[in-house]
Amino acid sequence: MKLVTVIGSGQMGNGICHVFAQSGFDVHMMDINQGALDKAIATIGKNMDRQVAKGTLTEDTKAEALGRIKTYTDMAAAVAHADLVVEAATENIDLKLNIFRQLDEHCPENCILASNTSSISITRIAAVTKRPGKVIGMHFMNPVPVMKLVEIINGYATDAAVTKTVYELSEKLGKVPCVANDYPGFVANRILMPMINEAIISLNEGVAGVQEIDTIMKLGMAHPMGPLQLADFIGLDTCLSIMNVLHNGFGNPKYAPSPLLVNMVQAGYLGVKTGEGFYKYTPGSKDLVVSSRFATMTW
Ligand code: CAA
Repeated sequence: MKLVTVIGSGQMGNGICHVFAQSGFDVHMMDINQGALDKAIATIGKNMDRQVAKGTLTEDTKAEALGRIKTYTDMAAAVAHADLVVEAATENIDLKLNIFRQLDEHCPENCILASNTSSISITRIAAVTKRPGKVIGMHFMNPVPVMKLVEIINGYATDAAVTKTVYELSEKLGKVPCVANDYPGFVANRILMPMINEAIISLNEGVAGVQEIDTIMKLGMAHPMGPLQLADFIGLDTCLSIMNVLHNGFGNPKYAPSPLLVNMVQAGYLGVKTGEGFYKYTPGSKDLVVSSRFATMTW
């Protein structure tokens, strides 16, 4: 396993390139937009600077790691010699199925095809390829360079040897892999998203305000972020799409997304990436300011 191609250069894609390059792999980062690729390289450089400042990476190893990443806008060229592809495109089923059809056509026969999907069925993705045994879920957590977990998802037809390879590979990245089977939301989001959704329902019912809900969960349960801040960090569109996968997949009303979450997504208040969700974000500021749309809790 020497050459890894990562499809998508967004928040997750650039983090995945970062950890592979830092662990000595050659990385091809592919996106349809050269501007997005340039921005991703700059983000990786900045995130590596944090590690240099902490003394966990030297300037030389940073330069070597960055030198191992090549950018591509042409998929066939990006994957022509890949040993592993990790797809980290937008969480949209039709887009992902289309990407996997193309990967199957252009990748070498033995190449493993992994998806970083947070909830779309690996079995369904694998079924559009002629190599379902070589298709697997490799679900990294955000921010990828910091979070230790890789949730590995076995599709219905994934070969045991492929799971073993991806498990050992994740360990080489300094991560802790855990294997789950392919059911809606796998493990991470089946448990995380209903908690976030319940926090949004509690806010909408006036049980408590934004700050109160987040502080209760931060200080009471030792979570690093409260659920509403975490929703903003993940992206409310992603949260909604995962709730819809759970709701449709299990057919149980307990997974119905909060109407407030639906409204916020429709209005384009998606959290950090659009500058406002439950909190309002000012570029360059670390202050956490509750959005003026959510009146202060009175008691
Ligand atoms: N790259 C490299 N280092 C980074 C980084 C990045 N992108 N982001 C943060 N860091 C480092 C910082 O340099 C800092 O390092 P030190 O403590 O060693 O100095 C450390 O991480 C903490 O960062 P900050 O001081 O900036 O801020 P913080 O203490 O608030 O931590 C956080 C930030 C790590 C994001 C923390 O708040 C956290 O763990 N939040 C929860 C994250 C989480 O739950 N992620 C999972 C989301 S779900 C998901 O991803 C999957 C899905 O399918 C939806």
